[in-house]
Amino acid sequence: MRKPLVAGNWKMNLLVADAVKLVKELKPLVQGISGVDIVVCPTFVTLYAVSEVLKGSNIELGGQNCYLKESGAFTAEISPQMLKDVGCTWTIVGHSERRQFFGEDDALLNEKLKFALASGLKVMFCIGETLDERQGGKMNDVLTRQVTKGLAGLSEADFDEVSVAYEPVWAIGTGVTASPDQAQEAHAFVRGLLKTQFGAAVADKVRIQYGGSVKADNAAELMAKPDVDGALVGGAALKADGFAAILKGAL
Ligand code: PGA
Repeated sequence: MRKPLVAGNWKMNLLVADAVKLVKELKPLVQGISGVDIVVCPTFVTLYAVSEVLKGSNIELGGQNCYLKESGAFTAEISPQMLKDVGCTWTIVGHSERRQFFGEDDALLNEKLKFALASGLKVMFCIGETLDERQGGKMNDVLTRQVTKGLAGLSEADFDEVSVAYEPVWAIGTGVTASPDQAQEAHAFVRGLLKTQFGAAVADKVRIQYGGSVKADNAAELMAKPDVDGALVGGAALKADGFAAILKGAL
């Protein structure tokens, strides 16, 4: 059985006081939940304050991105070592907004993924097709490229520390969720790709989260599908009660 993984990606939202308030509200709501791994991914500048509040809780902390060097002349970048220094155990790599708006391609994301893992972070690696790609019948090609290139060079053991987040770009922040059947179909396809590339043991153990307009009222149905092992939640993670309800939907 794969333990579900539910993460909140706060994106570029919440000032320090709001971020602290949110985790203060969330902590008691999820206290004692052990059947699901819980992660929040705040902005870089709120990580430290949030991590102080999370101490001793069952909520892990993640970055939304990180660079592929430990330190040096890389203006405005943040290293995995810096994320760990402020309490992160996870980072997201390859979110579609990084791919779309910041030009991060498969080769770069593969380097980032490998460096984050080598630095001791766990990684949620995002993939997903755009609406044009889906309507043009290219969904499987796009997922194949993203998986083949993005995860190239990983070992079987690496997949204890990597989850794949399937996030169809047309469902992110749009209120249009993939139906549970659409999600299941894509997740099963991705798991099949992992089996071909890395073998059955990897395909069996890797968690595949769904992301794209996950809310309290659709989360349980999505995560009930056999290949949907959790969620990556954007907008609905910005409210403690809504996020807690989603987490409970994973149980
Ligand atoms: P959303 O974002 O839940 O607001 O659609 C998901 C994500 O981008 O991770």
